[in-house]
Amino acid sequence: MAEQFLSDTWLDEVARIRTEFGDDAPSAMGDARLNLVVTSGPDGNKELHVSGGDFGKGLLDDAPATLTIDHVVAKALFVDANREAAIEAFGTGKLKIDGDISALMGMAGGSGNSDVQKAYQKRIQAITEGAPQRSTIFGPMSQELLDLGLETYAEELAEKGLTVVPAEVHGVTAEQFDHLADCILTRAEELTSCQFTLVDGPLGELVYEEGDDSRFALLSKVNQFLVHRCATLDRAFRDLAVNPAQIALIRHMMGQRGARFSSFNCFVKWPGEYGYGPGLGLHNDQMGVPGRTTHALNANGTWNLTEYTKEDGCLAYVPGSHLEKQPSTSAEAAVPVEAPRGSLIVFHGATVHGAYPKQTPGLRLTLVNYFRHQAILPQEEIKNGFPRELAEDCVDSDLFCELAGYADIFPFVTQTSTSPTPHPHLAAGG
Ligand SMILES: [Fe+2]
Repeated sequence: MAEQFLSDTWLDEVARIRTEFGDDAPSAMGDARLNLVVTSGPDGNKELHVSGGDFGKGLLDDAPATLTIDHVVAKALFVDANREAAIEAFGTGKLKIDGDISALMGMAGGSGNSDVQKAYQKRIQAITEGAPQRSTIFGPMSQELLDLGLETYAEELAEKGLTVVPAEVHGVTAEQFDHLADCILTRAEELTSCQFTLVDGPLGELVYEEGDDSRFALLSKVNQFLVHRCATLDRAFRDLAVNPAQIALIRHMMGQRGARFSSFNCFVKWPGEYGYGPGLGLHNDQMGVPGRTTHALNANGTWNLTEYTKEDGCLAYVPGSHLEKQPSTSAEAAVPVEAPRGSLIVFHGATVHGAYPKQTPGLRLTLVNYFRHQAILPQEEIKNGFPRELAEDCVDSDLFCELAGYADIFPFVTQTSTSPTPHPHLAAGG
């Protein structure tokens, strides 16, 4: 919660933040030890002192100098680290010094624009009432987001509808990605009875059963399927699902209390000229929602467990499409999202996206933590919980069943997408 500048609670908060930063805590006053009289504040004049960068209440008997400073100027100096404002105030009499002026010499040091200094200043701004707060079209940036240094990613999300967060920012290690990929390969083999490696892809020809009309089965040649419910496979997926950087960005788009899990799917994809076809399968996940909302109703945290270039069959997206009333779904408008293995790609549910065909050997594994806004949920668990026989006992049971969503794919409780199986001549050992 933001506190009034120089109030007792503000001073306590600042002291707490300074303790947190330890020796790295910067100081607008350098090492100076002096009394401060802050004038024209909302509660009149305020007496305090500063020593070694720490604020204290009241005046010191033995401070070598007293700085009398206007409330607005003090705020610019201590909250926004705006030294120019202090220098200007000196010229206009809004800042006065009494006593040993050499006590201010310490001010010469301690300045700078280091990452630590910026992080500290952001924390001070965040606890100060009326301080400028960074925000995007989605609203103010959360403390969590600022602490993680995600401002530029949040801004890119707001502007383009998609951002790529590198491993050094989200903090998931290469070893963790190795483990996640191993778990997926094991599950892929369970589902298809075919062995997979990252380098060679499936070690056999896979086909869908005749008559299978599922999405991937209808593509001209099998080169992809989905592993569902990844968060049930291993704790590593659940740890990834709550990665702080991912959650901070998703919450920024959906509202702090809005985000909920929707699904945890892994796309297992190998070479195939066709892919989703010439249109790249471009769509947005909120396509059925009339009109436009700024906030995301759905949002996507995609983790690429393998290299991710256009030739590798990476994501295609249309920058800025989340803001358009009628966004283009033309392949010409799309650009590839190229990113090294281990990157996190976060995008808004209204951002138009698809994928390029994979033309390089081996597997492309992308793990999708998909989120929904909590408002998009039945209050009653109808699809999987409402007794079917009661739905049938109705004046228009067909309509009741349609509205109950019995025939909808979602929400599913098991692996619902079909998986390809080895071609019969291979399964027979041929
Ligand atoms: Fe999608």
